[in-house]
This record gives sequence, C-alpha cells and structure tokens, in this order.
Amino acid sequence: MANILMRTADNVMGWVNERAPGLMPFYRKHMTEYYAPKNFNIWYIFGILATVVLVNQIVTGIFLTMHYKPSAAEAFASVEYIMRDVAGGDIIRYMHSTGASLFFVVVYLHMFRGMMYGSYQKPRELVWILGMLIYLVLMAEAFMGYVLPWGQMSFWGAKVIISLFGAIPYIGNALTEWIMGDYLPGDATLNRFFALHVIALPLVLLLLVVLHLGALHEVGSNNPDGVEIKKGPKGNRWSATAPADGVPFHPYYTVKDMFFVGCFLIFGAFILFFAPAFGGWFLEHDNFAEANRLVTPEHIKPVWYYTPYYAMLRVVPHKLSGVIVMFAAIAVLFLLPWLDRAKVKSYRYRGRLSWTMLLLFALSFVWLGKIGAGPGTDPVETWIGRVLTAFYFLFFLTMPVWTKIDKTKPVPDRVTMHD
Ligand code: HEM
Repeated sequence: MANILMRTADNVMGWVNERAPGLMPFYRKHMTEYYAPKNFNIWYIFGILATVVLVNQIVTGIFLTMHYKPSAAEAFASVEYIMRDVAGGDIIRYMHSTGASLFFVVVYLHMFRGMMYGSYQKPRELVWILGMLIYLVLMAEAFMGYVLPWGQMSFWGAKVIISLFGAIPYIGNALTEWIMGDYLPGDATLNRFFALHVIALPLVLLLLVVLHLGALHEVGSNNPDGVEIKKGPKGNRWSATAPADGVPFHPYYTVKDMFFVGCFLIFGAFILFFAPAFGGWFLEHDNFAEANRLVTPEHIKPVWYYTPYYAMLRVVPHKLSGVIVMFAAIAVLFLLPWLDRAKVKSYRYRGRLSWTMLLLFALSFVWLGKIGAGPGTDPVETWIGRVLTAFYFLFFLTMPVWTKIDKTKPVPDRVTMHD
C-alpha cells in the first residue's frame, strides 16, 4: 500500500515537473537550498508565527464574511447572530478578534528582534522597509476591521480617528467627509471599510509579505551574532559552495518552527477558550453595545496596539501638532537603517550605552501604551507621557551619535552557538 502511494506521488510529481520545470528549482531555492544561519534562537520564530496568524485571519475572515452584513442597520445584529446562532460562530469570531491582537504581539516582538540584532542594516534595508509597509497596512487593516461589528467603540473610534484628518489646514474637513462618505461614520463608511478590510488590504498585505520574504532570501537571513555567513568560509555537509555556517531551511528550521507553532497554538487556544476578550484589551467592553451616535462612551480609546501612538497624540496640547507627532513616530521607524551608524549589527557586540538606550526605548513605548489606554485625565501622567514622547524621538534623532561613540566588542568570524 505504502509503495503504491509513493509511486503515485512520484508519478504526479514527475507529471507536474515536466509541465512546470521552474517549480522544483523555486522550491529548492527557498527551502532545501536556502541556507539559514545555524545559530537562530527563539527570537527567530516570530516571522513564521506572523505568517501563521496571517493565514488564520484570512481563513476565519472568509467564514465571518459568509454571515456578516455590512450595513449600519444590520452589522451589529449579524455579529450577534454569528456569536449565538451560527454553529461554531463564536469560536470563529474570537479566533479572528483574538488573532488580530496576537498578530500585533508577534509583529512587535519580530520588530524588536530586528532592532536587537541590527537586521535592518545593510544589506537588509529593503527587508526592513517592506516590513514597515506591512506594519502600516496591518494597522489600517485592523482599524477598519474594528469598525465592522458596529459597536459603540467601532463608531466612536472611527469618528475620533477619521476626524484627525480634520486638523489638516484647508483640506481637512473635506478630507474627513470624503473618507467617511458622510458627516458621521455611517452606512457608506461601513461599506467602504468592509471592501477595504476583506479584499483590498489583505491582497496588499499578502503581496508585501511575499516581497518581504523575497527580499530576505535575496540577501539571506541575519542572525543573533550579526555575522554575514555568506562572507564566511564555504562548504558544509550538504554543499561545497554553501556557507559553512548555514543549514538547509528545510528540514532543519521547518521542523523547529513546527514545534514552536504548536506551542503558540496551545498558548493561543488558552486565550481563545478562557479569555477571548482578554479583560477588555482585545475586545473592549463598550463594543458589546450597539453603535449609538447620541451616546458617547466614557473613555474613547483604541485597542492596545495603537495606544502608544494614541498617547503621543493626546499629550501634545495642539491638535495638528499631535497628529504630526503621531505620524512622525511611525515614519521615523522607516529611517532606522540610516540612523544606526554602529559598525557592528548585533547588540550582542555593542556597548552598555546602546543597550541602555534600546531598553529605555522599549520601556517608554510600553509605558506610553499604558498611558494611551488610560482615561488621559491625570495631569501627572500627561507630563510623564510628554517626557516619554520626547525620549522616543530623542532615541532616534540622536541615534547616529550614540551608535557611533558607543564602544563595540570584536565580532567573531563565525557564528557562535549558545546551547
Ligand atoms: C505580516 C507580518 C510579517 C510577516 C508574516 C513576516 C514574516 C517574516 C519571516 C517569515 C521572516 C523570516 C524568519 C524570521 O526572521 O523571523 C522575516 C524576517 C524579517 N522581518 Fe518580517 N514579517 C512581518 C512583518 C515585519 C515587520 C513589521 C518588520 C519590521 C518593520 C519586519 C522585519 C523583518 C526583518 C528585518 C527580517 C530579517 C530578520 C533577520 O534576518 O534577522 N517584518 N519576516
């Protein structure tokens, strides 16, 4: 039986290969002959986890779309219907909403890994830029998705965020109206957000992920030592010309990734089954009440993954300046490859100054997130927010200086293993 199956599989493969001779070389280039550094650590699993969550979002999104109604009159009730009457609907909906938050958890850790190991430095600037574009599209995608259930926070969140464009001189009001298709978020807004959320942005996201990985495979992966394995000695167990410090991505990393994907799915299942709304952090309590344009929720705030930027917007007293600061905070991340002047990539070989700056940066980002999630009424907290915002920008703007003057340690010629 096993023999027959193997022979049939071989025949099918042979048939396909004859008709598409480029497929096997493509598979080899990106899997069995893609030599990844052998010293990857746990920080290198977040790329694959992001891919897993992306697939989860698309698959659960398709099932949600089968029952969701994109109209202001029916949207909220259709989501309630999915939660109560559609078989498995509650699980599918929570897989999608919890998945959105886990997407950002994974992406933030993935980005932090990139910062720690200087993965944005030459020759991986393009990988970083494409990653940043993914991050931007992901934020827009999640924002529009949050509006769709047409709960209180969907409506008021959309109103506050879209109205930010009103701060732009001359064209602001017209632009706000154009985006909403109305004077307040309504049917037109919901329809266009639905179209963008279910088809346009996912397509862009998928394209960007393909380009992101394509760009990475052109130059090869970085690693925790920041050693360029392509520049090191050649020849390993599988090939005489491949980098000596590289191992075939498949099966070595596919197997390792499968283990961690399993752990991640178990972790995700715990949240999904025991705390899908995560105490109001993943789905806010106000969003379980239908949108009402006559009743404003007590605190309008976005979901946790936007709160660091939202805090920056709020602590700046002038509206237009706040909007500029908020967008600048995201834009400055694009410049990272050119702001970092360190001679070594990985923070493993950088000095205390760089470590202190990076840790303070991470701390200020998280703290800003906490401030952005609060009511924003405490003046002391507002001042702390201002200091943290100033530090956020100081970190980037002074980066060319502190990365240059900081003492570095000698980088080894070959990658190191820490078992
Ligand atoms: C949908 C979101 C994303 C997916 C699916 C994704 C996927 C991946 C994968 C599979 C890898 C290779 C494995 C790994 O190094 O972890 C990778 C590497 C990388 N990604 Fe992403 N990524 C995403 C978002 C981002 C973002 C937002 C950034 C930064 C702005 C980014 C920056 C990088 C960098 C710099 C590398 C190379 C890391 C190295 O070689 O050390 N990615 N990505």
